[in-house]
Formats: sequence, structure tokens, C-alpha cells
Amino acid sequence: KQYEFILTDRPDPAVGLITLNRPKALNALSSPLFLELNEALLAFDADDAIGAIVLTGSERAFAAGADIKEMKDKQFADAYKSRFLENWTTLTALRKPVIAAVSGYALGGGCELALSTDIILASPTATFGQPEINIGTIPGGGGSQRLAHAIGKSRTMELVLSGRNFSAQEAERWGVVSRVVGEGEGQVVKEAIDLARTIASKSQIAVQAAKEAVNAAFEQPLYEGLRTERRLFHMTFATKDQKEGMGAFAEKRKPTFTHE
Ligand code: HXC
Repeated sequence: KQYEFILTDRPDPAVGLITLNRPKALNALSSPLFLELNEALLAFDADDAIGAIVLTGSERAFAAGADIKEMKDKQFADAYKSRFLENWTTLTALRKPVIAAVSGYALGGGCELALSTDIILASPTATFGQPEINIGTIPGGGGSQRLAHAIGKSRTMELVLSGRNFSAQEAERWGVVSRVVGEGEGQVVKEAIDLARTIASKSQIAVQAAKEAVNAAFEQPLYEGLRTERRLFHMTFATKDQKEGMGAFAEKRKPTFTHE
């Protein structure tokens, strides 16, 4: 399907790629862009052949935030009644893993969008930040919560209250991103696609159960999270993929997962 503000591609039969594509506005996340993004994410999530999704922007900007020009005259009543930003939860409800490949600016909503994905890979040029405080507002796409979980209270407070940006290297040191990849144009997207391909080669049911279990660590108290993990682990014994995976190990051959 052709979209106006994003591009979709299939760099591998099992990998869906979404590229934010509003270059003149540094991929500012306008409402029309976000509707398209959600539509594309849901379409890939529903496609049985896809095992993982990569989300990226341009070399200059992953996304420079929510669209300030679109928001600036908004009134409280509009924001409240239209449930402004509520559709940001679509991404977090997907079953399939989403990998963000971040180059350039990931600011405000752009940083929050990256934080909403499952894995972030960054190029050395990536710049993260929650600069909302500089324009008289605060993060609204989960930044204050997800950063606090990822990097602790003091750092989150400093960043969110001062609005200062942080580098790819800081993001890596603090564990916001899983790694900074080598230099070179397109390198981060290439690495993200490679990782997506690796994930897609596993049992999809096991991958989705593993994602659910890890997410439980952020959404549930420890006792509940441990129980969730154990139940999901037990559940895998009802799948053909577990029989195939363990059987293949015992027979010293490679498994062929059928996602059943
Ligand atoms: C709308 C934006 C934009 C944004 C950039 N542009 N960011 N438009 N919303 N968030 C537009 C600029 O207006 C400009 O359009 C064009 O993109 C290029 O940007 P420049 O500023 O000319 O580029 P540069 O000088 O290189 O500076 C890059 C920048 C700066 C440092 C990233 O653009 C910037 O500070 N942007 C805003 C960052 C920000 O505050 N983000 C948080 C937004 S609030 P024209 O037409 O002039 O060429 C937010 C709330 C989150 O995200 C709530 C939950 C979603």
C-alpha cells in the first residue's frame, strides 16, 4: 500500500520495514503520520509471514518530536475529548517485536516512539532528548515513565527538567539502546534488519511469549512477573515448535519451526 508520510518495505520475506518519511519536517509526528504508522504496524503484525518489524527514519532524524505546529493552538478540551496521544499505545500492544533503528534526532515524541519499541539500535549520530520543557510542556508519549524505568530517577529528572539532549554513547552506557552500531550511512538499518531476520528465524510463538514475559518485568510486580513467565514457559510445551526445537537438539539437526 502507498502511504503519504511513511514508506513500507519487505527487505526480507519475514521482515517488515517502516520508514518515517516527512523529511522536510524532520519526521515530526503529525496525527496523519501517526494514523498511517499505526495502520502499517497493525498490517505487519497481522501478517503471518512477518516475524519482526523494523522502524526507522532518515539519517538526519528518526523523528524530531510530535508536530509542534499542529499542536500549538490546541485547547485542553480538544486534547481531552479527542484522547490526544491515546493511539500511541497501539505499538506497545503488538505481538511481534519492533526494532527501532535510530539515526539523527530522536527528540520528544521521537524519543518516546523509540522507547516504545522493543529494541533500539542507534547510529553514532543519534541524539536523544525530551526537550518538551523548553516549549512549555512535558513528555506525553510515555517518556517520563519509560526513561525512569530505563535509566533511573535522577538522570530522568535531569533530562526531563532541563531538556538537554543525550548522545548515542550516553544512551548506550545507560542501557537506553542495546548498542551503537558502526558508522556509515544506512548501517543502523542494515543491522536492525539483520537482527529482525535472526528473530524471525525462531519460533514466532516462542518469540512472542518471550516478549510478553520481558514486558511483564516492566508492567507487573516481581511476584506477578515471575508467575507470568512461568505460565508462558509452561504454555510453550503445548506447541509443535517446542517439540521440534528440543527434538532437533536431541537428534543433532537444525530445527524447522512451523509457528504452531
Ligand atoms: C514541527 C518541526 C519539528 C517538530 C522540526 N520541525 N521539528 N516541525 N514539529 N517537532 C521543522 C522545522 O520547523 C523546520 O521547518 C524543519 O523541520 C527543519 O528544522 P530546523 O529547526 O530548521 O532544523 P535544525 O536547525 O537542524 O534543528 C533541528 C532541531 C530543531 C534541533 C531538531 O528542529 C528542533 O529543536 N525541533 C523541535 C524539537 C522538539 O522540541 N521536539 C519536541 C516536540 S514536543 P521549516 O518549515 O521551518 O523548514 C513533543 C511532545 C511529545 O514531542 C508529546 C508526546 C508525543
